[in-house]
Amino acid sequence: MKVLVIGAGNMGLTYAEGMSKSKLLKRKNIMVLDKSEEKLEALNQMEHFDAFSDLKDCVPEADIIFVAVKPYHAEALFKTIKPMVNSQQIVISIMAGVTIASIKEHTGLQKIVRAMPNLPAKIGKGLTSYVISPEVSRIEMLTVESLLDTTGKSLQVSNEMRIDASTGISGSGPAYVFYFMQSMMEAAMQMGFSKNESTVLVSQTFSGAVELFKQSNLSPNSWMERVASKGGTTRAALDSMEDNNVNELIKEAAFAAFNRAVELGKEH
Ligand SMILES: NC(=O)c1ccc[n+]([C@@H]2O[C@H](COP(=O)([O-])OP(=O)(O)OC[C@H]3O[C@@H](n4cnc5c(N)ncnc54)[C@H](OP(=O)(O)O)[C@@H]3O)[C@@H](O)[C@H]2O)c1
Repeated sequence: MKVLVIGAGNMGLTYAEGMSKSKLLKRKNIMVLDKSEEKLEALNQMEHFDAFSDLKDCVPEADIIFVAVKPYHAEALFKTIKPMVNSQQIVISIMAGVTIASIKEHTGLQKIVRAMPNLPAKIGKGLTSYVISPEVSRIEMLTVESLLDTTGKSLQVSNEMRIDASTGISGSGPAYVFYFMQSMMEAAMQMGFSKNESTVLVSQTFSGAVELFKQSNLSPNSWMERVASKGGTTRAALDSMEDNNVNELIKEAAFAAFNRAVELGKEH
């Protein structure tokens, strides 16, 4: 199996590196293409894959075409590759808002996977949600999933609306966590801790709580009940959050991202 990654930016390189580190594919079976001279120079220095600058040298060779350019470059790219593709090729697109119908229309291909990554993919801890077109077979789906899993975990969803919804949860979600962390670090500094001390206090609290959650089968609510005793400090904090409707505000924020993803999809 040969994979071609088009667009060696943040995300394209993240997946190309994930695939190469996983040993799922041999070096000669990972091709990476970019149009920018600067990126090509950097790619040529890397040992993990072959770099290309001309689509016709690599598109016909690929079994899977992984598209990681910005959405506004998609139409021109698809127009160029249309005469080079064959009907057995699978397209995996991580472009926000670009629908399966538009990829089919502009490439003429039918086997399409639309995926939504998130930032922790960069360190192998990402979550990629994805949806497949009906033309993708079960075996092909499993192959695609193993490629996506090289940057963390993946979750197959049933329709494209769920891709927009997952944008509101896992796609944009890391920023919500950073928002919460920032607020806690500011509170720590107001209490007199240095920036370094605040960073340690907050980051270890987050990673510890997440690990605890992952290693148990308790819900976040159950954990909250366990740590918050009546009249205690944690209860005081949780009561303050409840009084300020923080729960509703976080849900509202996630829906704002979901709605924006739907809007961006319509623009494309
Ligand atoms: N970054 C994220 O966290 C994130 C999360 C979810 C989804 N995504 C999606 O991932 C995609 C890539 O994002 P990114 O942040 O990795 O973008 P990026 O860093 O701008 O990388 C895209 C690369 O593709 C190149 N390119 C553009 N058109 C091309 C073409 N026709 N042929 C070959 N190369 C081409 C660009 O070159 P130039 O710079 O010269 O244009 C650039 O080097 C986007 O569609 C985005 O919606 C990103």
